[in-house]
Amino acid sequence: MTPVRLSGKKILLGITGCIAAYKAGYLLRALIREGAEVRVVMTKSACEFVKPLTFETLSGQPVGVGMFPQDRFVSVHHIHSAEWADLILVAPATANTISKVASGICDDLLSTTICAAQSPVMFSPAMNSFMWTNPIVRENIEKLKSLGYFFVEPDEGDLASWAKGQGRFPETDAIVEEVVRILNISADFDGQKILVTAGPTHEFIDPVRFIGNPSTGAMGYAIAEAATARGADVILISGPSQLIPPQVSEFCSVVSTEQMAEAVMSRVEDCGIVIMAAAPSDYTPEVSYSKKIKKSGRARSIKLSPTIDILREVSKLGDKKTLIGFALETDSEITNARKKMRDKKLDMIVVNNPKETGAGFGKETNKVSILAGKGKPVKLPLMSKRELANKILDQIKSLKAK
Ligand SMILES: Cc1cc2nc3c(=O)[nH]c(=O)nc-3n(C[C@H](O)[C@H](O)[C@H](O)COP(=O)(O)O)c2cc1C
Repeated sequence: MTPVRLSGKKILLGITGCIAAYKAGYLLRALIREGAEVRVVMTKSACEFVKPLTFETLSGQPVGVGMFPQDRFVSVHHIHSAEWADLILVAPATANTISKVASGICDDLLSTTICAAQSPVMFSPAMNSFMWTNPIVRENIEKLKSLGYFFVEPDEGDLASWAKGQGRFPETDAIVEEVVRILNISADFDGQKILVTAGPTHEFIDPVRFIGNPSTGAMGYAIAEAATARGADVILISGPSQLIPPQVSEFCSVVSTEQMAEAVMSRVEDCGIVIMAAAPSDYTPEVSYSKKIKKSGRARSIKLSPTIDILREVSKLGDKKTLIGFALETDSEITNARKKMRDKKLDMIVVNNPKETGAGFGKETNKVSILAGKGKPVKLPLMSKRELANKILDQIKSLKAK
């Protein structure tokens, strides 16, 4: 019997104005055969190729086309559809719709629904090879990838015009496999308790001045969010951050490295996985003044003493936790990271260099290498912190499986 791998999953299938629009019918049936519940939204151009009736019949559901249909009351259809979906799959996806989404344009039901989406969004582009290689289209695709949108690469072969090249809508099975891969990552950390630290810490010199660093907490928040989405029970301990915390089992806000250490040590016992993505300050002023230090023309010096090394303290517990550290290195990244890993008895270390374009503090993207055990470093390309969070979790999973 064929396995049903998408049972209980809700997929919104967006169909756009490509010659391959008719193939979306086969895709729709294949997704339903895998157990998914599928609803369809079509662009007006897609309706020039195939009638909505085809997809209404195949899905057994009304098909959404217009933003403002005259014949029925739909209220905020786009918001409801966006909330309903576990995945929005645009297949086939035109250069036009991809580019609109990359620019934040919401001028029809599909692009507006994607803009309101909380779920993953996956595009399966199909187009003429000159459109596929057009630098503007490429730039839009790269932008969307860096923001965490998924893409199924089009195949090479005969195109609609009988020219050969890349741009062909892939076989149905290839798209279904990608959908299964994206959606099945959702429960693989079920039952695991994970502690994540995020953000900077602030060490106050006086009531208005502190020693800190530009960490925003984005990487740690993305990991906490991704681990929660994959079924884990997550405790997130964060230093000062402007970001809205993700929905986790417990969120704990701290200011100083000492507070972060206390929060970690009092909660870490039951956690099997500890991911230290925070950038706590390594030094604190020996004296913290209770009143603002008055400005004077004279030079001042502040004596600093080292703060507690949280990673080392957790490592000293010596139980069977999987311990993951982060390293920010501006030179000899791998050598320095390997040393830190050995020194603090880490199972894995994620190392990044803030000098790399798109990497480091305050960016939506990051470019890292991952060192796990004695294996070779896994060098990852530039990607969104959301996508990277899942890659880090994938590495932890394979490390635990060894
Ligand atoms: C016969 C025909 C075939 C087309 N095939 C494609 C295609 O495969 N990929 C694509 O990106 N655009 C294709 N287009 C152009 C799109 O339909 C056009 O850009 C349209 O504005 C897309 O609108 P939509 O993104 O809202 O569906 C085709 C147009 C025609 C007339």
